[in-house]
Amino acid sequence: LALVERPRDLAGVRVVVSAGGTREPIDPVRYLGNRSSGRQGVAVALAAADRGARVTLVAAHLDSGIGDPAVRHPLIDVVPAGTAAELGAAVTGASTDADVIVMAAAVADYRVADVSDRKLAKEDAAGPGLTLELVQNDDILAGLVDARRAGQTIVGFAAETPAEGEDLVERGIRKRRRKGVDLLAVNEVGWTTGFETADNTLVVIDAADAVVARASGSKREVADALWDAIVAARA
Ligand code: CTP
Ligand code: CA
Repeated sequence: LALVERPRDLAGVRVVVSAGGTREPIDPVRYLGNRSSGRQGVAVALAAADRGARVTLVAAHLDSGIGDPAVRHPLIDVVPAGTAAELGAAVTGASTDADVIVMAAAVADYRVADVSDRKLAKEDAAGPGLTLELVQNDDILAGLVDARRAGQTIVGFAAETPAEGEDLVERGIRKRRRKGVDLLAVNEVGWTTGFETADNTLVVIDAADAVVARASGSKREVADALWDAIVAARA
């Protein structure tokens, strides 16, 4: 394996990366979550820092924990966030003077409408079933895109489970347009792919609906390919 010397092509660039998966409380001991380990987002933050960027990593429940030595980098500031609302506030706050924002976190689309102050108990339940009412969370990316400054590059991530015969790129193009981001990194996920693995496969779509990168390999290799695409898009 050849270790390729990476350029310091992000020297002085201010970057915000979100990583991990938010958790939405149901009661003091339970939550609604997702399978994001945060590894791809952490790799994106590390790749940027190694290329010279000053990085704020907004971290939601990383599998590795925010004390992970992998996240200890002199150019990375870690800000923990739990829920989608907390992650939104942290990312939005850190983004005002950012040059590049990468939303790699898996943000819960819904939260529980009425979080119980006490642990739900079957003894107190009305019947054998349980219905949780959910309400939609704010779209953090939409807010960032609305507030975008000139020269700011906003990158979204999309984990997709395409139907049999459906094209991942076509799906990605539709989502890229909907979200209004400069670049969308799309990866295919399923019961056995994409999560809790060391490797990943990404397709990166730009604002002209072009596939500007296809990367497959370790999450770090994929992160560097994404940064190559971001640097090219900013040039
Ligand atoms: N995202 C966000 N705020 C949300 C939900 C998602 O900022 N409330 C961001 C994610 O971090 C990601 C991008 O939006 O960068 C795409 O997320 P995705 O879940 O694929 O998009 P949605 O618009 O939520 O569409 P879907 O209904 O397919 O989940
Ligand atoms: Ca979603």
